[in-house]
Amino acid sequence: MTMSRGASHVTVARRSVLITIALATFACVVMLIGAPSRTVAESDASPLKIGIIGTGRIGGALAKHWAKAGHELVISSRHPEELQDLARSLGPKVRTGTPREAAVFGDVVLVSIPYGAMPQLGRDLKAELAGKIVLDTGNPYPGRDGDMAEEARRKGTGVASAEFFPGVRLVRAFNAINAGALAGESHRKGELIGIPLAGDDAEALKVAQRLVRDAGFEPVVVGGLSRAKDFDVGTPVYTRLLTAAELRKALGL
Ligand SMILES: NC(=O)c1ccc[n+]([C@@H]2O[C@H](COP(=O)([O-])OP(=O)(O)OC[C@H]3O[C@@H](n4cnc5c(N)ncnc54)[C@H](OP(=O)(O)O)[C@@H]3O)[C@@H](O)[C@H]2O)c1
Repeated sequence: MTMSRGASHVTVARRSVLITIALATFACVVMLIGAPSRTVAESDASPLKIGIIGTGRIGGALAKHWAKAGHELVISSRHPEELQDLARSLGPKVRTGTPREAAVFGDVVLVSIPYGAMPQLGRDLKAELAGKIVLDTGNPYPGRDGDMAEEARRKGTGVASAEFFPGVRLVRAFNAINAGALAGESHRKGELIGIPLAGDDAEALKVAQRLVRDAGFEPVVVGGLSRAKDFDVGTPVYTRLLTAAELRKALGL
């Protein structure tokens, strides 16, 4: 059966009205609920806001690498005035603050303090750190950190640190390289040194991998937090300065 020319015009007109209504409805919904927000990991090219808690040998080295890579930083100390010179030397995108200010500022927060200080920090900044990506470099040493370090070594640091920082998106990172190599072997010639990572949150791991690359090293995701034990103090890969390929082989990845 053939449709008359008039009927076909009406159908086409109806269709275009329906499409217009559908498009207008979609536009209204987007306006009302807002366009889907970009996550930290998706905005791969744009600078990250990073708070650094513990700007010592490890935190200070990473502050230099990440400032050079163009990220915005709050480097923190319990005595922030002592970090003024370092902040100035790192350029206009770096300022100083207290640990709390660093936690509030960062979409990503590096915690790089003595392991024994982590439970208290986790309690003090629970609200500020909730939901944030937290990179934890801490290593437990019984001589420095007391009995809690023995327990953390037994459990593995991924499991132990997660208990101190409930509600954060935790990644174990930069704990298995010594401070001298972290400062001096960044972007070295030839194959880069591999940095093992462990975390349970996929986006947090993605961001951590980006920050390992930006620091001049090659990320190696070992697994979830329970796998952090594989590169804790005393393991065969700890501070061995292995390339990523060597690290993967040694860990059977
Ligand atoms: N050094 C290494 O080769 C190495 C390698 C891998 C992992 N790690 C681990 O990474 C962590 C940091 O090591 P690091 O060598 O960088 O230490 P560090 O040079 O002694 O720096 C630690 C920083 O932690 C801050 N801090 C100390 N007690 C604190 C507290 N109660 N609350 C808040 N901040 C506190 C201090 O900052 P303020 O006094 O200015 O507040 C200090 O700048 C440790 O757990 C360490 O075991 C170290």
